[in-house]
Amino acid sequence: MILLAITVVAAASCVQAQSTAQTNVAPDLRECYIDPSFTNRNNIPPTTIQVLIDIIQQIEDNRNVNNVLNLRELTCLVLQRYRQDGIEYHQPESTIAATTNVLPFAPTFHSFYRNKLLLSRILPVNLQQLANDTVNSPLKCALHRMLSTTVDSRARDDGNSCNQLSQYRAIRTARSLRKHLLKDDVEMLDVAKLNSAKRSGQMMQYNPKDDIDVRNYNHNDLSERQVVTQSQCPLLDGVISTRWGHVSAGSVLAGIAAGAQPQQIPIENLAKGSVINIPNVQSHVTALYPATISGDLAEAVLIQNTERGSQTISVGAAGGWNSTQARRFFMLQAPNGLNNIEMTDPEIRGGIDGFVLGSVMPTLIQNVNSIRLSQVLDMYYTARNGVLDSTRRACNRRALAQTIPTANLIGETLAFAAALDTNMPLRGTIIGGLEQPVNSAVTNFQTYANNNLNDLSCADTETSTTDFRVKTNLYLAVDASWPFTTIYPAISYLLDKIEVGKYGSSVTLLTTFDGGVVVNKTFSLANFHTEYTLARHLSMLRGVNLESALPSITTLLQTELDNERASNYIGGNSTVLLFLLNSAVQINLEIVQNQARILNDSVPDLRVLYASSTNQLDTLWPLTRDMHNDIVTINLSTDGTNVESNMEGVLRRVSNVGRRIINPTCGANFPPDSLSGNRNFVDFVEPGYINYYSVSPNYFHINHDNRRVRISQSVAGVGNIIVCHSRNFIQPRQTNISIGVETSDVECQTLTVGNTGVEINLRGACDENRPINNCQPFHISVQSVIPTTNTALGSACTERGCRFPYNIRYQVQIEEFGCFSGSGSVTYSLTLLLLALIYNFV
Ligand SMILES: *[C@@H]1O[C@H](CO)[C@@H](O)[C@H](O)[C@H]1NC(C)=O
Ligand SMILES: *[C@@H]1O[C@H](CO)[C@@H](O)[C@H](O)[C@H]1NC(C)=O
Ligand SMILES: *[C@@H]1O[C@H](CO)[C@@H](O)[C@H](O)[C@H]1NC(C)=O
Ligand SMILES: *[C@@H]1O[C@H](CO)[C@@H](O)[C@H](O)[C@H]1NC(C)=O
Ligand SMILES: *[C@@H]1O[C@H](CO)[C@@H](O)[C@H](O)[C@H]1NC(C)=O
Ligand SMILES: *[C@@H]1O[C@H](CO)[C@@H](O)[C@H](O)[C@H]1NC(C)=O
Ligand SMILES: *[C@@H]1O[C@H](CO)[C@@H](O)[C@H](O)[C@H]1NC(C)=O
Repeated sequence: MILLAITVVAAASCVQAQSTAQTNVAPDLRECYIDPSFTNRNNIPPTTIQVLIDIIQQIEDNRNVNNVLNLRELTCLVLQRYRQDGIEYHQPESTIAATTNVLPFAPTFHSFYRNKLLLSRILPVNLQQLANDTVNSPLKCALHRMLSTTVDSRARDDGNSCNQLSQYRAIRTARSLRKHLLKDDVEMLDVAKLNSAKRSGQMMQYNPKDDIDVRNYNHNDLSERQVVTQSQCPLLDGVISTRWGHVSAGSVLAGIAAGAQPQQIPIENLAKGSVINIPNVQSHVTALYPATISGDLAEAVLIQNTERGSQTISVGAAGGWNSTQARRFFMLQAPNGLNNIEMTDPEIRGGIDGFVLGSVMPTLIQNVNSIRLSQVLDMYYTARNGVLDSTRRACNRRALAQTIPTANLIGETLAFAAALDTNMPLRGTIIGGLEQPVNSAVTNFQTYANNNLNDLSCADTETSTTDFRVKTNLYLAVDASWPFTTIYPAISYLLDKIEVGKYGSSVTLLTTFDGGVVVNKTFSLANFHTEYTLARHLSMLRGVNLESALPSITTLLQTELDNERASNYIGGNSTVLLFLLNSAVQINLEIVQNQARILNDSVPDLRVLYASSTNQLDTLWPLTRDMHNDIVTINLSTDGTNVESNMEGVLRRVSNVGRRIINPTCGANFPPDSLSGNRNFVDFVEPGYINYYSVSPNYFHINHDNRRVRISQSVAGVGNIIVCHSRNFIQPRQTNISIGVETSDVECQTLTVGNTGVEINLRGACDENRPINNCQPFHISVQSVIPTTNTALGSACTERGCRFPYNIRYQVQIEEFGCFSGSGSVTYSLTLLLLALIYNFV
């Protein structure tokens, strides 16, 4: 029945069904070029690998897709529906500027032709298409922009800013260096020529039924066709930001799709009856090559050879983002106009990544039959582990690129160039002899990939990232008096780092004015960015009023606790409330302190943090648990350039909060005689990673002899699992057992598969005569220790909770947890305060 939504068609080739392979903007994508809320990219989610994975996960979870389409089918359908390369703006002549029946965009940039071949003849497809409501419009437009390679060279009024960025200084050096190596002609803009060309080279309407190779216009001289004034730093689309460089995502997906069904295609099938007039060409292409590296190399060969008669083919064109966070605009450094931009740096990376992933797909699918596209991307663009083994990671791209066999690359590129030649209008006719330019292109590609990309290495990746992941429900209370351009990059940074996502953290956006919800709790980065725009920020009530914010946040969090009781939630995530303040806080101390205490007592596992643009320690300290660590001053610049250094402290604090293990019968009211009995939840740890938990004294203050936490493992994974616990160490590890002269209370045990597991006894853990706040929580860690860094990552975890197939499953059991609320201690709140003070100053 579900299949009804996706009609199966028997056609071997689906050109008719593929609106993105036609020579006009696909009907379903036109909205992205018409509706002002999507043409302004600041309103669609940033182009990052995290957002791409998030949107793909949403598609995979769609009821028409989940359990209906396999990885190969889904990847092809995503490319078909959302990737349309080469869409360019064409400035209408003033006389027709006002017509409403013309959309001044059409797929005319060179990248269109290769993708058309790919969609219509190379990627195997036998299903019709994804339903048009699979994702909403903002996500659709974001996905389209992330997958579709094109260049927008319209001059923008930010003309200067593109040269100011520090990234650009580095780029320019790289560029001029390259010019020494590979000479390219510099064409100057000729205004007279432009003006005449503008008339003749005008792009008007296309007949959608026309095939592509009927028109012949000046091919690469965008300034002639597009607009009169050309930007110094044209926008390159189809690029996503990753920690390991900027990547053309379309090539990555195309590589995965082509690799998932390896096949050879006779080149006559690609030439559609035209005669291949290039000698010494192999008769077939292997789908993976034109889908990735050979596709771009062939474009470079054909265009550079016909336009400049060049036998030396230049690859690589650098660029950068004009922001450090929430990246949306990738700018090419193009001081010489748009020459030699057929294979830009992001396309090189995307080609290599797509090739590597495509090559491993058959083995991967064989090992993990249910593997999903989002998982493949997630495993490759990640700090540790990788696809099947740890060499297959984005950080290892440079070494991976050198494993691509040169002879194959040359043969495949030559064959595909010959086929593409019959499909793409060029500014000359090739009458033989492409071997030399192809050899040059392949050699330059290999040299460039080895020397010029300078991406973060695996060693540096591992030392600069933590080996634990944050999984927190973050409540972000934002003061709307922050300028949006200042606070948005900081928020974006934080959400990336705590991994808001299906398997990670959630975010809820509130106002500091009254605690009202601005963006509902979401696990989707893409949805958060769609909702939290400049317009939404400006509509928020400004200012900080803790007296009204704290009670409504308390109510919100108490409702969450009651929901958790209803759903029998035992743990797995932490909860953090973070205030981002830009105005001075004025409070009636007595009232607000009491409110803070109520929140503290009724939501015991919540960590409340304050980050403020000015030092407000004197006002805020009575409201916190730990005045030295829970209040941070952040000095954010207006352009978002110093986010990392300022938000690092906040991030560290958020990351230090252990995942909760709770008694779900407590809810928000903590009934005193409510015992949990035995209950458990399942959790997962990645090889080489560690999970941290905390159990608050609110579940063990008054003694019960059988109260304990038990951690066990029923199925072995790679390596060993070590369980540690401590009262003093927030993040206990084996290495903390002996810490020189100081005594450590850290205790660790290795799990044995199949037995009763490691038992952490909570009997008599508190002095019952002292208030609950004086009793320390239990901190527990579950660490996966793997033998070497190059472990083969076997056993497939296919459960819903498994982010990666190699995740290791274990079980956390609570036994006889109680419910003890701090609110019984109202009478000695003053004593407490003093105690806290003394404690903090000692
Ligand atoms: C999806 O397509 C159907 C039929 O083609 C159309 O009626 C509907 O309006 C489309 N929905 C969206 C969200 O574009
Ligand atoms: C980046 O450039 C785009 C396009 O000009 C502009 O709209 C955006 O505001 C710029 N972003 C930043 C952070 O400068
Ligand atoms: C905890 O996080 C997971 C994903 O990381 C999510 O599925 C689950 O709903 C979260 N639980 C709560 C109570 O927020
Ligand atoms: C949040 O969700 C609730 C119910 O799910 C809805 O009524 C409310 O309008 C949503 N609020 C926002 C700001 O989206
Ligand atoms: C909140 O509780 C902690 C311990 O549970 C205590 O140290 C702190 O003083 C309390 N803070 C407030 C504002 O009551
Ligand atoms: C804040 O940062 C700016 C530069 O980003 C610096 O000039 C200024 O002195 C800093 N202010 C404080 C209080 O640290
Ligand atoms: C515990 O050990 C880890 C890893 O060796 C170390 O980074 C951390 O600082 C130690 N913690 C404390 C509190 O000493």
